[in-house]
Amino acid sequence: MLKFPDNFAWGAACSGPQTEGRFNKCHRNVFDYWYDTDPQAFYGGVGPDTASNFYNDYQKDLPLMKEAGIKHLRTSIQWSRLIADFETGEVDPDGAKFYSDLIDCMLANGIEPYMNLCHFDMPYELQKKYGGWEDKHVGDLFANFADKCFELYGDRVKHWFTFNEPKVIIDGAYLYKFHYPLKVDGPLAVQVTYNINLASAKAIQKFRSRFNDDDHTVGIILNLTPAYPRSNEPADLEAAEFANLWCVDLWLQAAIKGTFPERIVEILTDDGVLWDASQEELDLIKANTIDLLGVNYYQPMRVQAPAISPKSLQDWMPDIHFDNYEMPGRVMNVDKGWEIYPKALYDIAINLRDNYGNFPWFVSENGMGVSREERFLDDKGEVQDDYRINFIRDHLKWLHKGISEGANCKGYFLWTAIDNWSWMNAYRNRYGLIRDDIHTQKKTLKKSAYWYRKLSDSNELDA
Ligand code: NOJ
Repeated sequence: MLKFPDNFAWGAACSGPQTEGRFNKCHRNVFDYWYDTDPQAFYGGVGPDTASNFYNDYQKDLPLMKEAGIKHLRTSIQWSRLIADFETGEVDPDGAKFYSDLIDCMLANGIEPYMNLCHFDMPYELQKKYGGWEDKHVGDLFANFADKCFELYGDRVKHWFTFNEPKVIIDGAYLYKFHYPLKVDGPLAVQVTYNINLASAKAIQKFRSRFNDDDHTVGIILNLTPAYPRSNEPADLEAAEFANLWCVDLWLQAAIKGTFPERIVEILTDDGVLWDASQEELDLIKANTIDLLGVNYYQPMRVQAPAISPKSLQDWMPDIHFDNYEMPGRVMNVDKGWEIYPKALYDIAINLRDNYGNFPWFVSENGMGVSREERFLDDKGEVQDDYRINFIRDHLKWLHKGISEGANCKGYFLWTAIDNWSWMNAYRNRYGLIRDDIHTQKKTLKKSAYWYRKLSDSNELDA
């Protein structure tokens, strides 16, 4: 048995746009809009309209989550549900009531709310009018939205996050076309990277002027996929160095220290693509850093020197500095196509311990997506998902090793509680401890839910 530290937080994560459904929303976000205009872009033509019906079902769903041992739940407040007028900040009464009732219901079930403010869901109106994060003004509007959330719910919600996986917005919307507006524009990706970090700092500034007690914390959730070089050849090492700077350190350092790594600034300057930033903005970022870091981890990056070298700087893309490759012999989740490499969680823990002053963090997402999970239903209608239990156990063993060597990790939140809608993949891969039959919206605990409950009740892993 592996014992976890006292008060270790066991939980699960989800998001508003992936669970609630579009019921009574006053605005569309970019995914709602994209689905309305091109439903076939989404797996099986399934969109966010119903999702897992959390808007209507939360009073039934939260007790199920409790049964699955979830004592902390991260979800997000949708900007496009709460705010009726983005410029004046006027609130939509139904949206405001929904989140208030939801938070009350979580607390009544003994589930502590962790609230995130942007889970990829830029309101479409702001995307259309300003280009979303491309315009720094949208960062000001975001900070006002954040402040409204702190005002309305800060009495009951102690843990706040500005963004979930902001790097995925960059990849999806500006480099590899899996988020609206589906652009391919490297220099713009660099500018938006900066603008999002600035927007996060502006929201944190609002947070600081509202709360100055030890109970309230503000953070950001980063997908930290460490990059491992193919070999010790200098060109591969250089490729991995760039990948780690661009994907990991840039975000970590901005959030924790309020500065950008000198080396990445140097490289982007040499490439002629460095962001536009004023001294005043840089001071604001420096002055508004996080208290708590969320780390989402699914798979590592395997990196090698770019095949065509040197690639042209003219149409700058990050991959002029590195290519990905498939490591022979790696363990794959064949359904998802992602490598399973639990040791990375230990490497992340040690990186944060040694290079980021042992900053407090928690695993804010980790989990296994499996397609056609009905294959594993037994005659009682329970999914026998031993593969998920093994996946979680293997990751927790490495996490535990990191903690026993001094890493400052405060908790583990599984993705996810109830099967939910996963963007372009819709319901292709199921991640939940609780199965959602999307035709009937019947929700049933899987085998892993009982296992997770034992783990969270005992605080001990059956390793
Ligand atoms: C990370 C994202 O935060 C979440 O929205 C997504 O569904 C999961 N990864 C699974 O891909």
